[in-house]
Amino acid sequence: MAAIETTHGALAMDATKVHDHWSSRLGFIIAAVGSAVGLGNIWKFPYMVGQSGGAAFVLVYLGCIALIGLPIIIAEWLIGRRGQKNPVNTMAELAKKNGRGRGWMLVGAGGTLAAFLILSFYSVIGGWALSYLAEAGAGSFSGIGKDAAAALFSGLLASPARLLAWHSVFMLLTVGVVAMGVSGGLERATKLLMPALGVILLGMVGYGMTTGSFGAAVDYLFTPDWSKLDSTVVLAALGHAFFTLSLGMGVMIAYGSYLGQDINLVRAAGTVAVADTTIALCAGLAIFPIVFANGLDPASGPGLVFVTLPLAFGKIAGGLVLGVLFFALLIFAALTSSISLLEPVVELLEERTPMGRVASTVVAGVATWALGVAALLSFNAWSEVLIFGQNIFDLLDKLTSKFLLPACGLGAIVFVAWFLDREGVRQDLGLGRAGFSVWNVLARYVAPAGVIAVFWHSL
Ligand code: PFF
Repeated sequence: MAAIETTHGALAMDATKVHDHWSSRLGFIIAAVGSAVGLGNIWKFPYMVGQSGGAAFVLVYLGCIALIGLPIIIAEWLIGRRGQKNPVNTMAELAKKNGRGRGWMLVGAGGTLAAFLILSFYSVIGGWALSYLAEAGAGSFSGIGKDAAAALFSGLLASPARLLAWHSVFMLLTVGVVAMGVSGGLERATKLLMPALGVILLGMVGYGMTTGSFGAAVDYLFTPDWSKLDSTVVLAALGHAFFTLSLGMGVMIAYGSYLGQDINLVRAAGTVAVADTTIALCAGLAIFPIVFANGLDPASGPGLVFVTLPLAFGKIAGGLVLGVLFFALLIFAALTSSISLLEPVVELLEERTPMGRVASTVVAGVATWALGVAALLSFNAWSEVLIFGQNIFDLLDKLTSKFLLPACGLGAIVFVAWFLDREGVRQDLGLGRAGFSVWNVLARYVAPAGVIAVFWHSL
């Protein structure tokens, strides 16, 4: 994480001590955007749109971001800032202070568990990106056709050894960054590389305009066919809103725990949501023109990005350099997310066990890596191993996105909106009367009702 001046080593045994703070406001925003923008925007969003039939999903997703995601991101930061500890201790303590039971601790605990589960498969996809960086550098995309692109991807999935190697490299990078706490460097790099990712994505959107299928892609993304909407699609959109904004995982509570009073939570949440959504929509506008121009199936699933983009890099002038640059930036974006996923787990171990920062990071990293191995085997050797009818990868994804994240996010917003002192919350948010009324409606009714309604319907 960026620019935190912590004294974690000294905190190791002491669960009562509070954290130090972010070095600057910008440092916090950069780290929060870094956490939010990642594989979720570029790998997951397009394939979920494709599997859910297009624009109806996109519009519900946008609604979920604005009406549910925004209030919850604010609530999680507010909780973190008040507690100043790891998510579990923070929830326990705030509940106690406000005369509530210890059960609220489950919001922090469930979130931390979700972060652990998500990182295990996130690292596998980070590994795919690493492998594609190597392929791009080796010139494998040059002049590639759609069958060869599909074969390249299925070849990767079929090889446990390659998946394992790349997953391990990605996990090592994540653990290395978190253990060394190279925060200042990471902040500087994020400031430069995130915009660079945006620029290269825009370039790919520009390429999409030349394919002759740009109009079809825009239609697909923004002209809804409401008949495609059912409770599964709505739950998927809600779950993805949580995933992409890094909500319901203790991550934003953990980041908030390093916040001082000087930051405007509402404005910061708006910045994060807009940046995150813009990158996701650009990814959609870059990928679907290629899908339609090449007669590919939008519903083909998690491989969508990895099968489409090489087709573009294989055709355009300078495609080799652009391909390398694109996958390098994607890996960087994935890393600024994966380190944030490891953070709550590490914080918990550090503050609840005698282990220090480095030992906690290594233990958390090894455990996540091991679960990731089970996830990557579900693409090949263990594809027949089903639990509740799902392979391990799908199970981890669905259990977190469709259940744990919305449930923990719901807990966070209900806690802030209903169980904290109202005037204190208003001051924490820096809102006037009118603004606070809007907050109240969203936080007390709209967001919780939205999550509950979607759960209810899906059950
Ligand atoms: N929001 C990240 C993405 O969209 O790639 C993934 C993620 C990071 C999820 C951190 C959750 C989290 F806590």
